[in-house]
Amino acid sequence: MTKKATFTLHKELSIGEVDPRLYGSFLEHLGRAIYGGIYEPDHPTADEHGFRRDVIDLVQELGVPITRYPGGNFVSGYRWEDGVGEKNQRPRRLELAWRTIETNQFGLNEFVTWCRKVDTEPLMAINLGTAGVDEARQIVEYCNHSAGTFWSDLRRLHGWEKPHGIKYWCLGNEMDGPWQIGHKTAEEYGRLACEAAKAMKWVDPRVELVACGSSGRGMPTFPAWEATVLEHTYDHVDFISLHTYYGNQNGDTRNFLAKSLDMDDFIRSVIATCDYIKAKKRSKKVVQLSFDEWNVWFHSNEADRQIPAWSIAPPQGEDHYTMEDALVVGCMLITLLKHADRVKIACLAQLVNVIAPIMTIQGGAAWRQTIFYPFAQASRFGRGQALDLAMKSAFYEDREFGEVPVAEAVATWDEEAGAVSIFVVNRDIEEDLVLEGDIQNFAGYRVTDQFAYSNPDLKASNSASHPDRVLPRTIMTASVESGKLVVILPPASWNVIRLSR
Ligand code: AHR
Repeated sequence: MTKKATFTLHKELSIGEVDPRLYGSFLEHLGRAIYGGIYEPDHPTADEHGFRRDVIDLVQELGVPITRYPGGNFVSGYRWEDGVGEKNQRPRRLELAWRTIETNQFGLNEFVTWCRKVDTEPLMAINLGTAGVDEARQIVEYCNHSAGTFWSDLRRLHGWEKPHGIKYWCLGNEMDGPWQIGHKTAEEYGRLACEAAKAMKWVDPRVELVACGSSGRGMPTFPAWEATVLEHTYDHVDFISLHTYYGNQNGDTRNFLAKSLDMDDFIRSVIATCDYIKAKKRSKKVVQLSFDEWNVWFHSNEADRQIPAWSIAPPQGEDHYTMEDALVVGCMLITLLKHADRVKIACLAQLVNVIAPIMTIQGGAAWRQTIFYPFAQASRFGRGQALDLAMKSAFYEDREFGEVPVAEAVATWDEEAGAVSIFVVNRDIEEDLVLEGDIQNFAGYRVTDQFAYSNPDLKASNSASHPDRVLPRTIMTASVESGKLVVILPPASWNVIRLSR
């Protein structure tokens, strides 16, 4: 019997306004993300700054309103001062997080220049591993103070007369992880983050700050870490971070496709922890969530172990993504949208070459991985109000998650544009899914576009030599009659159904 899911599309089922920063990404000084990724001065498409124009075009096509930088684990040992000023004076350093050599030919000012070109907002992470309050206030003064002080005049001397005006900052990275340079307990980090936050806001009260949450919900200290950190920082920070990566190490696709249910539960637990501290402090302030690292990551783990230490920009973290990875990324995007009321920043980790939607060949072309497509469509169409669909779906049984809904879905309604986008993943890997929706509340709307992304081979992927092997296609299986939308979704597929007034 054909599997079925039913839903209701109604304006009153609004979850919240989708913050465009939900479609952020991440660039770390890791592997070929920066060097040979966005920055390759000898590349035929390089501009006057050494930025690859072909990569800029793809980042713009992907649609990334905010980009986190420079780490990641890298930031916990990073001296940002090494990456500013004359390039030939910049030191080479041993980089302990990824065991490489950092040449510092790309740094803070190059990143801000790149952001302005791409039209993405910087989300700057500071070092709270080996550095402290002094460095935290100095970098804000360098970036955001207009003139007349040591650090602001240094920026001007370096050629940036106007302040960068960087609004969003991460207070360190994954400080709960023993792998972190300068790993801390929740008490140690909470105190430091609080003092760094106060100093940063005294330099520039407009900044918004992200405190480090746990590096994953599997950490033994989750969620006590969040509670302790927020006890210390609640009045001084605006966001708490979440990170998660999934993989199909066991070759169990049904289980892999259900992993976004874990993400959903993770988000709910962090919201509950934030609100527990809010209640405890009798505070009116709501701390929001910054899901600033999320993706599929497992293909490259073994290859990475073979890379010798102390090389420059080695090919680390170069996952080649498949069709099934794109579906998991699609489910994760839908999960973020389902929490649009609290998740205000999210960063696909990462952007170029390292666990990335965009890949480059040195001196050659740039190309799109499978995960590029659901992200690009969500970023383009998923604007306005997120709408819960009150979905009732067929399900399958999974050993880890129990009943897994075959349909993972959410909608967005852009009232001004008069457009609704319904995003659905059909998790069934064998059968079509018949989706039926009551759309009477959207009288006068008709289906204008329908996109499907699927492939009979769930391991199919794009590559440098076959960059267009797995592409989304335009189909039209959707129809509307008497306020009812009926659409047939192919097995194992990401789908976008667009309705317009
Ligand atoms: O994104 C890759 C790494 O994953 C980051 O450096 C770190 O924060 C996380 O563990």
